Amino acid sequence: MGGGIAQVTAAAGSRVSLHDAAPGAADRALETIRKSLTKLAEKGGPEPERVLARIELVDDLLPADLMIEAVVEDAAVKEQIFFRADQVLPSDAILASNTSSIPITQLAADTVRPDRVIGMHFFNPVPVLKLVEVVRGRETSDETVEAIVAYAEELGKVPALANDSPGFVSNRILMPFINEAAWTLHDGVAEAEAIDTIAKLGFAHPLGPLALADLIGLDTCVAIMEVLHEGLGDDKYAPCPLLREHVEAGRLGRKSGRGFYDYS
Ligand code: CAA
Repeated sequence: MGGGIAQVTAAAGSRVSLHDAAPGAADRALETIRKSLTKLAEKGGPEPERVLARIELVDDLLPADLMIEAVVEDAAVKEQIFFRADQVLPSDAILASNTSSIPITQLAADTVRPDRVIGMHFFNPVPVLKLVEVVRGRETSDETVEAIVAYAEELGKVPALANDSPGFVSNRILMPFINEAAWTLHDGVAEAEAIDTIAKLGFAHPLGPLALADLIGLDTCVAIMEVLHEGLGDDKYAPCPLLREHVEAGRLGRKSGRGFYDYS
């Protein structure tokens, strides 16, 4: 998702420093961005090379007006990044997280600028989906919310505001839906294809819940369910064992070539 966010911010005219600690990940992101921009250019989108020229791959965090963090859905990893970003970015910069579920207030607590920490939650595929869920932490200032709402609009997105609560609005609704689809498969009620066909044609969803889980990443789905389970203290949010089994087997969805479906 970090690559998608870099793409839409660069396409809107911002200069972007793209950093990923995993060797080669930023280069792969750049290739994905190039492909996406090429598709969009055929439909009147901006010239790919002009957008790519605004994206620089960097080896570390650098001073900027805004950081948008989009690392793995692990609170400890995100907290380290917020702690470090607070030291590297100017004191008036905004630190945003693309987290799907981790409380913004918790990330803000690792900084001395909790008023300038906010959730800026994009949706996959970022270049296509219009929503940005803007999440206000306990200490986030009105000024920061206004700046991020305005920036999301500049990106051509539609911002929607949510308060800080496990899973916010989007994943409090989406993840139980995906989890229940996994239970339906687990209990042998139907095959994966039938479950997804029922959601696609019965509810007019573009993807069925199992195919969508593969797009999001099953490890991410389990991590989000765990945040909901622990944060809301209700067993109805416990991840389905089938989701956990797939993750343990390395079946993470599209990114590993296999999840509920085989992408090889
Ligand atoms: N960049 C540019 N264009 C893209 C693209 C990308 N990354 N991905 C798809 N497209 C374009 C395709 O080129 C195609 O364009 P044309 O219609 O002009 O041919 C169009 O989008 C539709 O794509 P496809 O024909 O390949 O397939 P589709 O109609 O099934 O659409 C989809 C694909 C956009 C992914 C659609 O299935 C969809 O919207 N699915 C739901 C996705 C969703 O729910 N995402 C939210 C996940 S939750 C999340 O991200 C956050 C979280 O916290 C977990």
